[in-house]
Amino acid sequence: MSSTGHDANPVPALARRSAALKGRVRVPGDKSVSHRSLIFGALTVGETRISGLLEGEDVLNTAKACAALGATVERLGEGEWRVEGVGVGGLRQPEGVLDFGNAGTGSRLMMGVVAGNPITATFDGDASLRRRPMRRILDPLEKMGVQVVDAAEGGRLPLTLKGPKDLVPITYESPVASAQIKSAVLLAGLGAPGETTVIEKEASRDHTERMLTHFGAQVTVEPYGAHGRKVTLKGRPELKPAPIRVPADPSSAAFPLVAALIVPGSDVVIEGVMTNPLRTGLFITLKEMGADIVFENERVEGGESVADIRVRASTLKGVDVPAERAPSMIDEYPVLAVAASFAVGKTRMNGLSELRVKESDRLAAVADGLSAAGVSYSIEGDDLIVEGTGSVPGGGAVATHMDHRIAMSFLVMGLAADNPLKVDDISFIATSFPSFLPQMRGLGAVIEDEAVAA
Ligand code: S3P
Repeated sequence: MSSTGHDANPVPALARRSAALKGRVRVPGDKSVSHRSLIFGALTVGETRISGLLEGEDVLNTAKACAALGATVERLGEGEWRVEGVGVGGLRQPEGVLDFGNAGTGSRLMMGVVAGNPITATFDGDASLRRRPMRRILDPLEKMGVQVVDAAEGGRLPLTLKGPKDLVPITYESPVASAQIKSAVLLAGLGAPGETTVIEKEASRDHTERMLTHFGAQVTVEPYGAHGRKVTLKGRPELKPAPIRVPADPSSAAFPLVAALIVPGSDVVIEGVMTNPLRTGLFITLKEMGADIVFENERVEGGESVADIRVRASTLKGVDVPAERAPSMIDEYPVLAVAASFAVGKTRMNGLSELRVKESDRLAAVADGLSAAGVSYSIEGDDLIVEGTGSVPGGGAVATHMDHRIAMSFLVMGLAADNPLKVDDISFIATSFPSFLPQMRGLGAVIEDEAVAA
């Protein structure tokens, strides 16, 4: 079992109806950008300085994996890190198992990295990660010549990969819009001669393309169909170090943001949030629901657009969320379901099949949480329909299934529910948002942990 697993020590917590939330907050650095800054830094020749790195467990596991593969990774201060890279193709054979804990992104991207080097590495993680599908990564990597030496049933973790001496560049049409699949193939493609291309019918987050370009690789991005993209990378570049400033994570900002919308009288500013258009589906949806959300002080920092987001408590109405918006808000559906519960009317979220393979089966986990809180909903195929009535009874206990976003979403719900809401385990919040509790309490949220709620 993973050294970072929390399975043995669940920490319950209870959220109570709170007075108006007020104040300014800066949530931690973006998780996707943080993983990539360490991994890409490890593939440059020279020193990359990173500021604002998310120091959550998922990212720290990626840092350890980079070190195990030969890079020098050093923490200089809060959020300040330096990575001394070994260059594309320069990784060394790791001695032990690479343990990614709860992290899908770290493990899947690193599979692409290992593929591009003639080394053998074993990947493992906690019980949640061991359940998640890895075939979607192994399939394209095998086409490129990678050998799956060993894997658990269905190609799951723990698994061992062997990178070939000569990797074959491919053109891969991804069956799902997944930045992790796209990134794994492109990272492998760094080690292949010629051009590696990934086609996606729906565009997924583009941090890999942006950062590869930032580090000097040649990447071309063309539109593909109505919503898709074709991304082509020229293999075997020499990546050059460049400083990275990690913007605040919009997926973490979503929690104080929805909390401020549903707790009457709230007025909160969330500072420096990344507003990359491939990540802002939640903000668009909430605005359609009538949310008072204003982007202030919009600017570009480290190649990404950011803004201070001012949010005031709002009366929300139910909306229809189109399936093609899913990639730009894939991690935000649990907290959108919370907002929808406080809205008046029906919110239909279309095309959520990918939610079934996240840190938990999030469709099932959200549905169970809504039941526990007394919210009416239905599931039709891959669509979730929440019947909002403007208020939530609360009073139940929610199972979080080793999933940080389920824990944070239902704690947020409890802040405005008629009765307190309990969640069974908040320990996984440390994977992505270690400062969640103190920062939410700083805004006025009443969340009692462990001793009180047990
Ligand atoms: C991520 C991609 C998404 C997202 C995850 C982070 C990334 O996963 O859910 O939290 O950093 O590439 P998929 O690629 O499975 O959609």
